[in-house]
Amino acid sequence: MIQSLLLLLAIGSPFIIANAQPSNIFILAGQSNMAGRGGIQENPEGILVWDGFVPPECQPNPSIFRLTANLTWEEAKEPLHKDIDVNKTNGIGPGMAFANSILHREPDFGSMGLVPCAIGGTNISQWERGTYLYDQLLLNRTSAAVSGGSGVIRAMLWYQGESDSIDYEDAISYENNLKKFFNNIRADLRLPLLPIIQVALPSGPWPFVDIVREAQLGLKLPNVRCVDAKGLELQPGGIHLTTQSQVLLGEMLADAFFRFLPDPLPTNTRRKRYMA
Ligand SMILES: *[C@@H]1O[C@H](CO)[C@@H](O)[C@H](O)[C@H]1NC(C)=O
Ligand SMILES: *[C@@H]1O[C@H](CO)[C@@H](O)[C@H](O)[C@H]1NC(C)=O
Ligand SMILES: *[C@@H]1O[C@H](CO)[C@@H](O)[C@H](O)[C@H]1NC(C)=O
Ligand SMILES: *[C@@H]1O[C@H](CO)[C@@H](O)[C@H](O)[C@H]1NC(C)=O
Repeated sequence: MIQSLLLLLAIGSPFIIANAQPSNIFILAGQSNMAGRGGIQENPEGILVWDGFVPPECQPNPSIFRLTANLTWEEAKEPLHKDIDVNKTNGIGPGMAFANSILHREPDFGSMGLVPCAIGGTNISQWERGTYLYDQLLLNRTSAAVSGGSGVIRAMLWYQGESDSIDYEDAISYENNLKKFFNNIRADLRLPLLPIIQVALPSGPWPFVDIVREAQLGLKLPNVRCVDAKGLELQPGGIHLTTQSQVLLGEMLADAFFRFLPDPLPTNTRRKRYMA
């Protein structure tokens, strides 16, 4: 009797878990290095393929979910952006290492819901309010992630700027454009102090990368933190982080997230009040 009840629960539970809204929602947005290119190589035919290697830090965890392109929750697994950045070959990004690192440090943190929204090659103008990326991808998916449930948006992770490091005009406008973007997204999500953790570009092959890095590192807005990717190992070509670098970056992002929080682990209500 008990055994068959347990069996019933065991069969039923993955379905229930997969459709429940996770408690802690994180937005992942930006361009290719947020989408994830770790482990991407050209095969002999010159086609970009992912090597399929998932390091231990990026393995699935029953408490980590991903919002699919269909706006359903499923257990997250690499590559996180496979149905989002659909015109590119996706590999390892920072998202899974970030989420696993949070749960490793705070086992009682609660379920995590990652909302992948990054698209390779995009510039900051393409993320302006009113654009497809801003309205349909970022806002729409984030609204869907919290609609009708008790999940709370804990932070946005943002890694972008490579495409704005090519032309001088784009680079010198980057600081203002980035500020406007952060202010707009907070206003539209009605989370004026939404924690934002952005990544400062590692140096790359672009002529104006230092101007963009200065804008990122110097940005003065409350509750915006910056982690510096300079020094992380890049793949040949000097643009994309390797799988191992993405693991390190994910852990740096988790460090930065915990720096927002009063320690030790606050109760859910306290945390909610603090983060809201
Ligand atoms: C979208 O959802 C439908 C039905 O829920 C499912 O059959 C399909 O595989 C999903 N597509 C993707 C890309 O996840
Ligand atoms: C993929 O490419 C198609 C055709 O160029 C385009 O319409 C679509 O917007 C692209 N999607 C993404 C996510 O880049
Ligand atoms: C941003 O990218 C789009 C699409 O590639 C392009 O049309 C636009 O000119 C770019 N904007 C800037 C300011 O570079
Ligand atoms: C997302 O966009 C679709 C189509 O534009 C719209 O019907 C839907 O209500 C939006 N969902 C949310 C949660 O904003």
